[in-house]
Amino acid sequence: MSPTSDLLATALAQTGAHPRLSQQRRLYEAAKAAIHQQRLGAGSKLPSSRDLARDLGIARNTVIAAFEQLAAEGYVITSKGSGTYVADLQAHNALMRGVGSAPQARVAQRAALPSVRLSRRGQELTSYAAGPQFEIQPFAPGDPDFSSFPFKLWQRLQNRVWREARNDLLDYGQSGGHQPLRQAITEYLRISRSVKVEVEQVMITAGTQQSLDLCAQLLADAGDTAWVEDPCYWGASRVFQARELKLRPITVDHDGMKLDDKDLATKPRLIYVTPSHQYPTGAVMSLARRRELLDVAVRKDAWILEDDYDSEFRYTGRPLAALQGLDNDDRVLYMGTFSKVLYPGIKVGYLVVPPALIPAFRSALYDLQRPGQLTVQATLTDFITLGHFTTHVRKIRQTYGARRELLRRMLVLRLPAGVTISKEESGLHLVIELPDSVDDVALAQRVAALDISVKALSTYYLKPQVRRGLLVGYAYCTPEQITDYGRQLGAIIAAEVAA
Ligand SMILES: Cc1ncc(COP(=O)(O)O)c(C=O)c1O
Repeated sequence: MSPTSDLLATALAQTGAHPRLSQQRRLYEAAKAAIHQQRLGAGSKLPSSRDLARDLGIARNTVIAAFEQLAAEGYVITSKGSGTYVADLQAHNALMRGVGSAPQARVAQRAALPSVRLSRRGQELTSYAAGPQFEIQPFAPGDPDFSSFPFKLWQRLQNRVWREARNDLLDYGQSGGHQPLRQAITEYLRISRSVKVEVEQVMITAGTQQSLDLCAQLLADAGDTAWVEDPCYWGASRVFQARELKLRPITVDHDGMKLDDKDLATKPRLIYVTPSHQYPTGAVMSLARRRELLDVAVRKDAWILEDDYDSEFRYTGRPLAALQGLDNDDRVLYMGTFSKVLYPGIKVGYLVVPPALIPAFRSALYDLQRPGQLTVQATLTDFITLGHFTTHVRKIRQTYGARRELLRRMLVLRLPAGVTISKEESGLHLVIELPDSVDDVALAQRVAALDISVKALSTYYLKPQVRRGLLVGYAYCTPEQITDYGRQLGAIIAAEVAA
């Protein structure tokens, strides 16, 4: 077996905890991780599909399909007659930014990528590209446990929808989404989130990212100011930047977004907040701050975008009520997603708009997005109305709560003085807060060598003053992985702080 086959065989074995992934997907993920972690360096030649299939004991077509997927996403470059090589991701990103120098782009050069001129906006947007990421890996923050998804049940519900052969479900959907789903969401939000909502206010979107983009397009012009939390969810800041808004990062403390006099002297069009569980710090916005923010929005004629992305995961006490429920002036647009409770690829979310905005949002959703996906929405409706959603949430909440507790126990035993763990009892990740002297980015990279994916807290900040820490997800990890990797993570942090 060649060293590369050997390396891929080891990487493949490490994806074994999720046997529901197809072999092709596992090989693709394993190779992607190895490339990302530079265990397979730029320019390395991969074995031929025939050799690799033989070495791994899998079908050649599986290898070919995985290679094709890697090539399509730019991880490898296939050159006819010469073989498949690992691409130079840095050079590729640099080329995409329009600043790459030819000598850097070793492999890209070999494949002679045609030079392209991106728009000014395109150059700007790709200049801070995060690069391809390994989506599912132990401790990756934000990932739910896909393996707990009720596949068979979903398949049954989906089959039922298709058996009905309804023509109307094959259309784009003109009225803001599948009406019965909007009804089910309305009831859920009223009861579980104290949102003040009528069914007409609910738009079904392709997730929060699309909800945010619609808000940015319809409510703000290029050059307008958006107040965002600092640290901030990158998905939100990217959308606002793409729409050429000026970002004003607002400090977040234990009570959420904290406005000072300088902030108050500016005039935002949009205010983006995650009040139930600030992303990424976990802070819950206090009642006083909620009232203040609503008041400021009225005075400044601004819109508040409330991103309630993971409120289902509150492990102790009652779920927190949404900020929107306190709004008596129709300044809040409330958004939620099924990405965390079900699975990210479902691409279904919802946006609740104030009544005066219904016609504009409904027509823009249709004209700009051509929504569709009504059969998925119909399946989801049945999933909710037949009670499976509640059962599923209850089950995963219990599982994730236990995993969170286990991770906390593993870490508390090992973390030295000066290192603390975030205390809030919700979400899919916890934050290990580090002393300012620790370089959290370098630490996250060192941790990646153990095949653990944690994120550095400092990278979520927009202003120069940052807090240091690591975001550690626990939902996607089995208890065995948490025990094993938690021990290793604790040890590496302790060594780093002592150094
Ligand atoms: C703060 C926040 N909002 C929203 C989302 C999900 O958005 P979407 O519905 O686009 O998947 C995420 C996912 O990681 C998130 O972290």
